Amino acid sequence: MAKLFAIKPLSACHEEAAAEGEHTLKRSLGPINLVTLGIGAIIGAGIFVLTGTAAAQFAGPAIVLSYVIAGCGCVFAGLCYAEFAAMIPIAGSAYTYGYTTLGELVAWIIGWALCLEYAFGAATVAVGWSGYVSSMFGFFGVHLPFNATPSIALTLFGHPFAAKVDIFALCAIIVVTAVLVVGVRESANFNSAAVMVKVSVVLIFVGLAATFAFTHWHHMMANWHPFIPKNRGAFGEYGWSGIMRGATVVFFAYIGFDAVSTAAQEARNPQKDLPFGILGSLIICTILYIIVSGLLTGIVPFAQLNTPAPVADGAVAVGAAWGVFLIDLGAIAGLASVMLVMILGQTRVLYTMAHDGLLPKWVSEIHPRFRTPWLITIAVGVLVAFLAAFFNINFLGELVSLGTLLAFTIVCLGVMVMRRRQPDVPRPFRTPWVPFVPIAGMIIATALMVSADTPAKVGFFSWLIIGLFIYFGYSLRHSKVQRAARGVISATPREPSATR
Ligand code: ALA
Repeated sequence: MAKLFAIKPLSACHEEAAAEGEHTLKRSLGPINLVTLGIGAIIGAGIFVLTGTAAAQFAGPAIVLSYVIAGCGCVFAGLCYAEFAAMIPIAGSAYTYGYTTLGELVAWIIGWALCLEYAFGAATVAVGWSGYVSSMFGFFGVHLPFNATPSIALTLFGHPFAAKVDIFALCAIIVVTAVLVVGVRESANFNSAAVMVKVSVVLIFVGLAATFAFTHWHHMMANWHPFIPKNRGAFGEYGWSGIMRGATVVFFAYIGFDAVSTAAQEARNPQKDLPFGILGSLIICTILYIIVSGLLTGIVPFAQLNTPAPVADGAVAVGAAWGVFLIDLGAIAGLASVMLVMILGQTRVLYTMAHDGLLPKWVSEIHPRFRTPWLITIAVGVLVAFLAAFFNINFLGELVSLGTLLAFTIVCLGVMVMRRRQPDVPRPFRTPWVPFVPIAGMIIATALMVSADTPAKVGFFSWLIIGLFIYFGYSLRHSKVQRAARGVISATPREPSATR
């Protein structure tokens, strides 16, 4: 039993982080690249779509407080991520942090849960992206000769089954996968351009809305009153429980800052720049979200915000119909960059797991010219395209939140365990106010998980069970840490190419 909780030594992580060579990833990302990588992953379907639906259905104008609660949970988790990212700057993210503190089985569970965050997250955003593309076509009055989401009739195990095939989402994932196979610097440039467009669009909305607020103050006050609508009897229908339910929904909007830590091996100076990238992107987005949600619920009565493009509706409400085009454009570029960073993060987590022997060797195969893990990038692209083409956005989104919240909880726990077990290890960044920050992070993450819907919880546990089958069927026997413990291989592999 003890073997299941085998710890990966920090020294092995540091050797891997220092390894350079033709089979390793290229170090091309600076601090600003990392902040843009974070913002690229964070601002997406959450702020552009879910703010409106959550305000209308659960929290009313108090969606601002939902954003504050979810944001606090993310800042606490982000501070814990930053300590680990600086201490263990290799590409595994929460998975690696779990491996060095709580052992292999926990690490596997986190890695498997992170697939929900990144692969399922990319699929969720692809479905949202497809909606904005259709809306943009509609803006120009173009009626497509085909329906972007035709239904096909299948027969599975003798049962008829109607499936939606989201063609736009499918095409988006194919393009993003191709960009990632070609190289991370090229993808970072694409990402920076997309981030500039979406941040500009959010700022234009804030400018329009703030001007409106100064000239129509009474209108804003009327829409904000009552700020916390009275609960209607059921959990989550307004009132304080509605604020919590809203926080669970808009938590999706913050997901992505941790993707910065998955690019550790492509960062030029990871110990300094990773905490900067994680916390910088998170703080910028938290401030933007609170301002946007406050203004939006002031401009439009919250009950009218349950639409596919609530921010664009806000532009119409302040009399700037031209804003719809800009906001559609910002959402299209913005969601594309979220897909890019999510698939990038997914491939890097799997790369690291394969490098540790928990997945087959082909997963960590690096392309000789592009220096990217090309095979797994293509495999992940195929999986994400399948999910995006066939599955429902709400179900996918909730699974994403559950996987991410589990990873956050374990990272917070890991910081406390590591402080106790290895207090003297150099920590280029230290989480402040330990244990308050990690404990508060765990409490908020657990509260949000408990608030999720039942079908998502069932899907989440089913996913974890599949993962355990793979762990006990394959990973336990092939793990490098386990084989080193049995004396089959030397304790610390010299460099990643040793896996080939
Ligand atoms: N935070 C990302 C979004 O809102 C996942 O799309």
